[in-house]
Amino acid sequence: MTTDKGMLIRGRFTTKLSNVMEAINASIDFDQKMAMQDIAGSIAHSEMLAKQGIISSADQSAIAQGLAAIREEIQAGKFTFSRDLEDIHMNVESRLHELIGPTAGRLHTARSRNDQVATDFRLWVRDAHDRAAELLEALLHTLLERAEEYSATVMPGYTHLQSAQPTTFGHHLMAYVEMFGRDLSRVRDSRRRMNESPLGAAALAGTSFPIDREYTAKALHFDGPTRNSMDSVSDRDFAVEYLSFASLCMVHLSRFSEEIVLWMSPQFGFIKLSDAWTTGSSIMPQKRNPDAAELIRGKSGRVVGSLMSLLTMLKGLPLTFSKDMQEDKEQTFDAVETLEICLQAMLGMVGDMQANADRMKQAAGSGHATATDLADWLTSKIGMPFREAHHITGRLVREADTLGVTLDQIPLAAMQAIDGRITQEVYSVLGVDNSVNSRVSFGGTAPANVRAAVAAWRVRLEN
Ligand code: ARG
Repeated sequence: MTTDKGMLIRGRFTTKLSNVMEAINASIDFDQKMAMQDIAGSIAHSEMLAKQGIISSADQSAIAQGLAAIREEIQAGKFTFSRDLEDIHMNVESRLHELIGPTAGRLHTARSRNDQVATDFRLWVRDAHDRAAELLEALLHTLLERAEEYSATVMPGYTHLQSAQPTTFGHHLMAYVEMFGRDLSRVRDSRRRMNESPLGAAALAGTSFPIDREYTAKALHFDGPTRNSMDSVSDRDFAVEYLSFASLCMVHLSRFSEEIVLWMSPQFGFIKLSDAWTTGSSIMPQKRNPDAAELIRGKSGRVVGSLMSLLTMLKGLPLTFSKDMQEDKEQTFDAVETLEICLQAMLGMVGDMQANADRMKQAAGSGHATATDLADWLTSKIGMPFREAHHITGRLVREADTLGVTLDQIPLAAMQAIDGRITQEVYSVLGVDNSVNSRVSFGGTAPANVRAAVAAWRVRLEN
């Protein structure tokens, strides 16, 4: 028995591969990640072959036992992966020959590496969908807890990174619940669409053997077989969809990270992360750096890059399989690993962060953040057209700046000098608490709304 791959697929070749050819061709260094999927697919395939009378049940049990032994070797780290066997499929099959002899050669009946790799990769990416959904659910639940806790904690809301209107920290966190909630719906949607089995498409055209594709689909927990053999071996949409979902999710994580970096800076001082989530500087002892947030922001480029790489690899490919498609894996594996560590890090930071409510409130009151409330009051209580109210408010803001005070500190007489209809009652809308409490429109920032949104999301996540 030889492990030379000449025995498996190089029957018509007379010389060995050149070293460079072997180096560019081999995928075993990375596709060994799919070993468990490869073995599960092979066991299902062998069962189906026996059930259909294509191989004997004695041969099938020898094959299944051999594959189980290989699985154990791999899990125990005792399997020797070999580059001259090119990929995970040939490595496993060659080892099966060593363990059970020529019967191993019956496993590849009615199958090709083209439908085999399409199946293995789909199973692997399906697991990645499930892990991402689980991490997102955990992140959402933690965000909901923190949003509830901070539902009445006033902070500045920004446009152009300039203090615009007061909001609450809870409402701000709930904005990320909406984003990650869409991400969760996207990954679930993609999971539903991709759950079809390409196994049995063989090289590209199907097979003359009387196979049962429903059986293998069911055994591998697919909803059913794919419908077109040519599409089955050339389709990588499921990986593109995962990477699209992951890219957008990374963009959300990155925007959140950018805010954490800002909030952590001494100039903002809005939040604190504990020692578990910060690093120090080797030279400046006063520093507490939010490295995890910066790394998430930085790593987003890798995932977006993987998406671009896969789309570009696919765009010029004629049907069906071309070796270019082997380039689907490293990018996807890297993106999956990156997304998962970033979701875990964000989950950790969100659970850990402590708001400095005093700093937030102080900042919310600066920059005349309640100017819109003042204009709204002039409109609703005095009956001014909003444009006029906007103009009067502008004059009041100028007055406040001239006096060097905030809007709620302008004396009534000074206000009435600008517009005689203004009364004492105006002060009730000028405080930041009054401002956020008044924003009760659906989707608005009022603490009661935030608590209602938290409750509604909990129900959504249950279903
Ligand atoms: N290592 C290959 C891949 O990752 C397996 C499929 C090989 N098929 C072929 N016809 N060469 O895509």
